[in-house]
Order: sequence, then C-alpha cells, then structure tokens
Amino acid sequence: MKQFILYASKAVTSPDFSLNDLPGSGGRMDLVARCIGNALWLSHDLRRDTCIHVVACGSPPVVISFYGNRLRSVSPDERNIAAWIKKTLASTRRNPGIILRKLSFQQLVAALVSEGNSFYILEEEGTDIARVNLKEDSVFVLGDHIGLPIEEEKFVEQFEHEKISLGATSYLASQCITVVHYELDRLKVSV
Ligand SMILES: C[S@@+](CC[C@H](N)C(=O)[O-])C[C@H]1O[C@@H](n2cnc3c(N)ncnc32)[C@H](O)[C@@H]1O
Repeated sequence: MKQFILYASKAVTSPDFSLNDLPGSGGRMDLVARCIGNALWLSHDLRRDTCIHVVACGSPPVVISFYGNRLRSVSPDERNIAAWIKKTLASTRRNPGIILRKLSFQQLVAALVSEGNSFYILEEEGTDIARVNLKEDSVFVLGDHIGLPIEEEKFVEQFEHEKISLGATSYLASQCITVVHYELDRLKVSV
C-alpha cells in the first residue's frame, strides 16, 4: 500500500471549526482536505491502494487516516472531506475508511516502522525523484505550508529512508502528492 503522512502543524483537533472558514478556523483544514483529495481520488474512482495519515498537531495531537479501499460516501471536494473530518472528530458519524487515533507524529512513524515500512521524505534538497528506485509500498512524508520540523525529520532519519526531491521549485504539499502518484503510475505502465 502507498501511504502518505502529512504533518499539519496548525490543523485543529476539535470539531468546532467552520466549514465556511477552513483556512482560519480549521487551521489550514483547506490544505489538509486538498491533500486528502489528491491522495485518494482519480477521475470517477478512488485509489484503493493508498491511504493518507494527517497528523493534526493540536494538544494532544491526533492522526486522522483516510483509506481509499474502505471510504464510503465521501466526495472529493474540500468541503465534503473537511465535513467528514469534523464528524470524525466529533464522533457523530463513523466512516469505515476514516480512522481517528490519539497519536503524535513520532508515534505514528514508530507504528509504521513496526509494520515493516520504509520512508521517503519529500524535500527540495533531496535526490531527484527521477534517479530514485521508487518502491510503491512505502510511506511518503510531507510537511504543510510551514514544512516538516527538523526534530520530526531527524526522527524519521533513524529508520530506513530516502530524501526525494521533485526539483528546486517549492510546490504545495497537495501538488507533491499528485506528482508522486504520477511517477508511480508511470512506473507501473512501463513495467
Ligand atoms: C509548501 S511546501 C513547504 C514549504 C516550506 N516553506 C518549507 O520550507 O518547508 C510543503 C511540503 O511539500 C514538500 N515539497 C514542496 N516542494 C517540494 C519539492 N520540490 N520536492 C520535494 N518535496 C517538496 C515538502 O515536504 C514540504 O514540506
């Protein structure tokens, strides 16, 4: 399975945010929802081989994971994705494809290591993605608009990892997810 981790430093962990103000009241919940959309949706289909873990860094932090193979009744628009995050945080409605856990970034990484995963850290200064032997069953780690804090990056560096770059241009996290999928999709076609 392809997995993405988005480190969402400002994302709120209470359901009180307004769907009419995702950037402000949600702590950049617009960015979070765009990343989830780009990670899981194709035209008229879902990427059933992918999941995305959003680390919302409130206190305490929570991880909201969306699984493409189990998601029901969610549409790819930002508002609908954010509405499902709200329902999940409020425990008012459950969706088999959305799991909420009280975990920090480091606890999530440790759990994924124990399942045998290796990591790609996305950063501009990494090895050009075209020169990396990309493995599909991996975890891709991205920062939000602020970036991945150095202490979290160092934590991932203890485990099997590679730093990969999509070039010198700094892209939105959601755009990076699309490019990673595109590269992996092309590899499958050329096998
Ligand atoms: C908008 S960028 C963050 C920019 C932020 N100012 C920083 O310095 O990290 C969001 C995330 O996308 C990823 N990213 C953006 N551009 C990239 C690139 N060219 N190659 C690899 N990853 C990239 C990184 O993981 C980054 O943390």
